[in-house]
Amino acid sequence: MTFHEKDVDVLISEEAVQARVKELGAAITRDYQGKELTLICVLKGSAFFTIDLARAIDLPLTLEFLGVSSYHGGTETTGEVRITTDVSKPMAGKHLLIIEDIIDTGLTMSFLLENLQARHPASLKLCSLLEKPARARAKVNIDYKGFVIEDKFVVGYGLDYGEKYRNLPFVGVWKNP
Ligand code: XMP
Ligand code: MG
Repeated sequence: MTFHEKDVDVLISEEAVQARVKELGAAITRDYQGKELTLICVLKGSAFFTIDLARAIDLPLTLEFLGVSSYHGGTETTGEVRITTDVSKPMAGKHLLIIEDIIDTGLTMSFLLENLQARHPASLKLCSLLEKPARARAKVNIDYKGFVIEDKFVVGYGLDYGEKYRNLPFVGVWKNP
């Protein structure tokens, strides 16, 4: 018995996640031929996804990390978004691809898209591992999407509950005890 088995059911297996990451990497490789790509990893949730995806992209690229806080206790977003760690360089003139773990209400990402657009990048697109359309409150266009999921609280592959379970290699449903 591993540490998570009584709390988490597998929703998307490690194999399915890795296969989809490879497909997304191939699509991004095709679309950004001849361009200098900057991946913006949204901490902490998309860290594992970003690293695997970066290795599935056959292009020279730059990695940036950005932290937002939008999430205060429990499993509900408040809509209040703040940048806690900013990228390390000016983003003007760059081809930016934001890498996110999940688009739930969309409030965090609509804030972030607006904030980065204001820095005048050459282009700005979004890649999200997961989308939970049931709870959408802000319209966010996901250019590269891993999986659409039902309205369940998920953990693993970067996603946490109380900072735990990020290191699971699959996406699972957290069983509220
Ligand atoms: P919004 O609602 O602004 O959500 O689109 C963005 C952030 O909320 C977190 N989130 C989750 N985290 N399991 C998690 O571990 C979930 O099911 C979940 N739904 C939302 C996540 O940090 C996301 O970036
Ligand atoms: Mg997140």
